Amino acid sequence: MTGVLVTGGTGKTGSALVELLRGHGVPVRVASRHPSGGALDAVRFDWADPATHPAALRGVDRVFLVPPVNTVDPMPLVGPFLAEAQRLGVRRVVLLGSAVVLPNAPSALELAARVRARPGWVVLRASGFMQNFLSPHPVGERIRRHGEIRTAAGDGRVGWIDARDIAAAASVLLADPRVEPSEQGDHLLTGPQALSYQDVAAIISARTGRPVRVVRIGTDEQAANYRAAGTSAEFAAAIAAVEDGIRAGQEDQVSTAVLDLTGRPPRTFAAFVQEHATRWADDGLPEG
Ligand SMILES: NC(=O)c1ccc[n+]([C@@H]2O[C@H](COP(=O)([O-])OP(=O)(O)OC[C@H]3O[C@@H](n4cnc5c(N)ncnc54)[C@H](OP(=O)(O)O)[C@@H]3O)[C@@H](O)[C@H]2O)c1
Repeated sequence: MTGVLVTGGTGKTGSALVELLRGHGVPVRVASRHPSGGALDAVRFDWADPATHPAALRGVDRVFLVPPVNTVDPMPLVGPFLAEAQRLGVRRVVLLGSAVVLPNAPSALELAARVRARPGWVVLRASGFMQNFLSPHPVGERIRRHGEIRTAAGDGRVGWIDARDIAAAASVLLADPRVEPSEQGDHLLTGPQALSYQDVAAIISARTGRPVRVVRIGTDEQAANYRAAGTSAEFAAAIAAVEDGIRAGQEDQVSTAVLDLTGRPPRTFAAFVQEHATRWADDGLPEG
């Protein structure tokens, strides 16, 4: 089969991409640790089980790559996968990377460099997802349960993007592998506007009627929160430290890449909130 292997194909970005590619008549193979029974286009794929990798890759000529989540060291698993993709002649890999550079995570940079170095392979450097403000993401879950956002990012701003706009950009690059990526082999993908957590809280409050307050905390407390939610100490420290970068203005950026690639401007945060307004309803649970 020529077509696209979509890793993370059941996730927020991957599932939107699958829908778009199917809409364009592109054959898709949906990778998941738990493929839906009987679906012809589903394949079992687990980063932690390298035996599943070659079969997932066999016969496809394009790959959407969602690297292993919750780790600062993706290369031991993704490196051999990319070598196999190269051996099988995969023409295009589109990596879902991040605009944020995780501190003390050289392996993530190495992964992006490896993809970028190959002609026709592309890195999407995605800004923070608007979907982080929806449950089940811990930030969204805290808003739903407690009406608050706890952050160490101060007044720093982020060019929040709707994951569906990342999928739209990826679909352009994957539907037709002849579409040229940027010369650098990567695209910074953001929403239309950079917003602080205060800005976000104000928009959610105004559009849903649910008051959302912002509680300023330190980076150490944020890391402890992530650990308490089950994240490894190493990864918790790295993602908490990202908020230092936001506070310092490192994520205060917007690009025109979604418009340039898709011909359509990225969704605004206000429109995103309007569309999902019921998801922030007070569920009446006691605070705790
Ligand atoms: N959230 C943000 O602000 C942000 C910003 C920039 C970049 N990113 C990147 O976006 C990626 C997440 O994308 P998303 O939010 O669209 O995904 P998501 O909704 O969190 O879903 C995770 C996906 O990964 C798959 N997955 C989980 N563990 C796996 C494993 N061991 N082997 C194979 N697949 C596995 C899941 O598939 P199954 O459960 O079906 O196996 C699912 O499809 C991460 O790499 C993150 O670094 C996120």
